[in-house]
This record gives sequence, C-alpha cells and structure tokens, in this order.
Amino acid sequence: MALPPQFLEELRNRLTLSDVVMRRVRLQRAGREFRAPCPFHNEKTPSFYVNDQKGFFHCFGCGAHGDVIGFIMRNDNLSFMEAVEALAPEAGLTVPKASPQERERFEREKSLYDLVERATRWFEAQLRAPAGRHGLAYLRGRGLDDEAMARFRLGYAPSDGTGLRGELVTAGYTEADMVEAGLFKRPDDGRAPFPFFRNRVLFPVTDRRGRVVAFGGRILEGEGPKYINSAENPLFHKGDILYGMSRARQAAADGKPVIVTEGYMDVIASVMAGFEGAVAPLGTALTETQIQALWKLAPEGQRMPILCFDGDNAGRRAAFRAVERVLPLLVPDHSVRVAFMPEKEDPDSLIRAGGAAAFQAVLDRARPLTDVLWDMEAADRDLTQPDAQAGMQAALEAQLERIPDARVRNAYHRAFKDRLYQLGRAARPAFQGGQGGGFNRGQRPGALPFPVARQWDKRFRAGVETGSARWRERLLLAVVLNHPVLFETLGETLAMISFATEGLERLRQALVERLFHDSGLDAEGLRRHLSACGFAEELDETLGADLPSYARPEATPESARAGWQEVWLNSQELVFQTELREAERRLAEDPSEETLARLMALKREELIRRGHALDPEGEGV
Ligand code: UTP
Ligand code: MN
Repeated sequence: MALPPQFLEELRNRLTLSDVVMRRVRLQRAGREFRAPCPFHNEKTPSFYVNDQKGFFHCFGCGAHGDVIGFIMRNDNLSFMEAVEALAPEAGLTVPKASPQERERFEREKSLYDLVERATRWFEAQLRAPAGRHGLAYLRGRGLDDEAMARFRLGYAPSDGTGLRGELVTAGYTEADMVEAGLFKRPDDGRAPFPFFRNRVLFPVTDRRGRVVAFGGRILEGEGPKYINSAENPLFHKGDILYGMSRARQAAADGKPVIVTEGYMDVIASVMAGFEGAVAPLGTALTETQIQALWKLAPEGQRMPILCFDGDNAGRRAAFRAVERVLPLLVPDHSVRVAFMPEKEDPDSLIRAGGAAAFQAVLDRARPLTDVLWDMEAADRDLTQPDAQAGMQAALEAQLERIPDARVRNAYHRAFKDRLYQLGRAARPAFQGGQGGGFNRGQRPGALPFPVARQWDKRFRAGVETGSARWRERLLLAVVLNHPVLFETLGETLAMISFATEGLERLRQALVERLFHDSGLDAEGLRRHLSACGFAEELDETLGADLPSYARPEATPESARAGWQEVWLNSQELVFQTELREAERRLAEDPSEETLARLMALKREELIRRGHALDPEGEGV
C-alpha cells in the first residue's frame, strides 16, 4: 500500500524537524543547527545534530541519520506507516486511505505467500513420512542426499489431498484460496476441488526474493506428463521466473557464472556441484523478461550468461530459437554464450557421470553468439560453392536485421564480413595475390565475390537517392582516379558500396576490379585502362572541370584523402538522417515496442556521432 509521494512531500514540508525532535529531546541551538546528546546511543558530549534546512538529523557518533519520519520510526520504535500516522495530525493532515482494492490486493498476496509457504512445509514433511517413501527413494536414486533435498526444499505430494486441505483449513484458508494458489483444481462438473499434484515429487519454485510461489511436480513412473507446473496465479507468472533465480543472484554477485539449463534436476545437480549460478526456465523457451533478468544479475561488462543445450537436434533447435530471441535485445556488452552438451547428456547426467570437471569443460567451450549464428546458417550449406556463400551472406544479413542496436549490428557485421572474406579466399585461391598494407591487410575482398555490406549498402543507396547522389558519387570516384595510391586505404569502402547512378556504378566496379589486380597503377595507366574498357564517357564526366580542388590531380594525397572522407561522412550523415526521420515516422504510425526500439537505437547512434564524432560503421575510412 504505497502512499502517494505528494502526500509524503506535503507531510515533510509542513513539519519542522527541530519542532518534532524538540518535543522528545532537549535541543540546543548551534549556529544554524541544533544539537543534543544522541537519543540513539549513550554519550556525554552532544554529537546529534538537527538541520531544518536540509530536513535531516545526523549523529556523528553512531551514524544515525534520517528525516522526520525516520526520526519518529527510530525514536518511537514505529513502522513507517505508524510513524506517518503519528505525524499526520501534527501536520494537520489525514493519511489517505489505500483504495479498498489496493488494500485487498495487498492482503490477498500476503496471505497467498503464506498459504504457499505452509504448503511447502507440509510437502517437505510428507517426503519424510510413510506416504512419501516412494518419492524419497526416487530422489535418492537420482543421487540426491538429505542436504540437497533440504536445500531445495523438495517435497512429496501424496495421492490424497485431505491432509493438505486440513492443514490449510486450520490455518484459516478456504478452498477458493487453495484453488487460487494453484494447489487444488476445481473440476468442471461441480464436484469438490481435488489436489493438483498427486504422487509427484515437488520442486518449489521461488521468486527473486526466495519466496515460494509455485511448484514443479515430477511423476515417479507411469502414465501422465513427466512434469507439471502450478497454474499461473497472482504470485506466479511462468514466463517471468527462472528456477534458481534467487540463489543465482547471490552467485553472480560473487562472480560466479550464470548458467541457463533446461530443467529442475539440472539446476540442482549444477548447484550441488558448485555452479550456484545455475537457473532454468520452467519448461518453455526463454522469454524476453527472463533474458533481461539474466543480464541484470551480472555486473556491467560481464553480462554473458551461458545457455546450455542438449547436443542433439532438438537441443540445437532450442538453441536457435533462443538465439533468435536474444538478437532483438542485444546492446553493447550484453550477450550470451552457448554451450552444447555432449549427445544424450544433460547437465544432471553429465555431472553424475563425470563430476563438476566434465560440466566445467563443456562450459569452457561455450561459444559466442556470432559463432552460433554462423554455424546455424552454415549447417545445411556447402560453403565451398559460391552460390552457397552468397546464400550464407544473405541469411546472415537477414539475421542481423533482427538486431536493432546499430553498434552491435555493425560489430557483428564486421565479424561476419571477415569470415565471408576468408571463405572467398579459401574457395578462390587465384585472388590471393595481394601485398602491402591498407586494403591488402591479408583480407582483400577478392574481386568482390562477396560485397558483404549489403546492409550498409542499402543504407547508402537509400540516402544518396534522396540527394545529389550523382555529384557525391563523382567525387568519390574522381579522387581515386586522380590518386590511385589512395585505393590502399579507401578501397575497402569503395569496394563495398554501390552507386545509384548506373554509369558511375559500372565505372566504380571496373575501377575497383582494376586496382585490386594492380595496386601499383598510376593515374595515367588507370585512365588508359578504363578508357579501353569503354568508360571514356564516364571518365570525362567524372573528371570534369568543375571538381573541387581536393579532387583534382594537383591536390596532395593528404588533402585528397581528407576531401574524400568528408564526402563519405556527409553521405553517411545524410543516410542516417533519412533513417532517423523514417524511424520517427514509423513510430508515430505504429507505436510498438519494435518501432520504439529502432528509434532508440538510432538515437543512441546519433549521440555517438555527435558526442564522439565516431564513425559508427567503423568502416575504416
Ligand atoms: P526434460 O524433459 O529435459 O527433463 O525437461 P529433465 O529436466 O532432464 O528431467 P529429468 O531429468 O528426467 O527429471 C526439462 C524441463 O522441461 C519442463 C520441466 O521444467 C523440466 O525440468 N518439462 C518437461 C515440463 O514442464 N513438462 C514435461 O512434461 C517435461
Ligand atoms: Mn534430466
């Protein structure tokens, strides 16, 4: 029952702290403050100060510190609400009553927690009672000792519900309460509610604060689903909770890795083997809420929970689904790693067979998200074939489209670009002739079998089409035509974009192709070659008399390069602004989480652009 903040502010404003304190403690004026021997610890010289300007008291002896409400809480030994109620008349205010609905919800939740807690204790006792002997034997058979069972508060639900019902009725609960908490189920035909869990071992599920809110129940043998979970209830929303979360919070704070497994038994086995950061969703794929919660556990910069999946096909499919859920959420320094279990093992069975070391070895081999994405897409392709390589590129680009955060997207993009290059090199040894720095740093793009930057390329085009594309494209070409030596540093960028103007686009391709094969060519030789290839007209246009000085032959290479970069950055800026406007328009039209995320990502990118004058594409211009 939260009080409205305006009320609390009004209460604090109307009261003068020293007046309130004075009625309980003998204060002496000390300049702009008051002081006294501290009412909260024993002392002879006064070190307790009251400051009305700040509205705070502070004791330099014992450190007691607070505002008017805090003073009354301490001095009169009251709860927060009681202190507020005590002070309100002094301030001439009446405490607003919580709305009946609010009060009811609060009471209701409080009592549901209590109900579930009582049930947990009862189930725990059953495991030790004759009725639970099969359950106990089952858990022992799975390698759990008394310590583990107590630590995880494992229990047993017998077939007969009278015991539990009696226990809860004695505590004052009605059948309706038991149904609401998910412990009993009301049949459609109007008969009395029956217990939801019967003949199952129970795994209590706690919330972030460690309060039990639901149960998972495993069948021992026989017919029926292997696991069932409590139905959703006011305390329990399956998609928000991870089994083991409250313990993992502490473990993560202690620097232990956060590990996401698939099941209850996996979490228990992991924790007992020393991996206290182990959690599991409750039989569903990871939700966004769960992923965000995982990231909140670990300190900044280390937000890399490890997702464990079975080594079989089902596990791989589950991993792909998880990856696809994570991509839209990625922001810098937040990611996941993915570990695949050996075939036919889960963490529980692996730890039982090979101990903590075996599991640790699997975790050590956890792979970054980029690798997993790559493998996902490479799985059914023969990457020695150019068309499969092209398909690979397209598929990766489609995956990258899922990442709204431009910084992450660009970083992934660069990583894939390098790998695609290497594929091209491996598949086309004829193109390995490069030497020298810059463009040739061991990663030349072949004769561009893979203009990988389609994502970027699209942005470039989108922008140039809105403005004087032809002019900027001319400039980008003219500089390199007049200073082929710059191709060493600018070539990579020039190779990856495409132009909107058709003739200039063909000229760009030919120029890149030529300089790639012969980086030692001078301006003369380059022009001769391109003329001979049928580009005389385009060359004339491009090298026309209206070029700015940096694009002319007599410019120094430094100024030529600076000029080129200027044009390039302007183009990018234009594209960016177009994108930004587009994102704003889309958000206005369709205010969804997705359109908002897109705009936010661009806004962040804009901050980077403005703040640090970085080239967020990092294209090494
Ligand atoms: P698994 O089928 O992988 O089983 O379910 P497991 O965890 O290895 O179970 P054991 O070792 O045989 O006891 C993984 C998780 O999926 C959910 C449960 O949360 C389980 O822990 N699940 C599974 C269900 O909710 N219902 C089912 O019928 C099966
Ligand atoms: Mn298992």
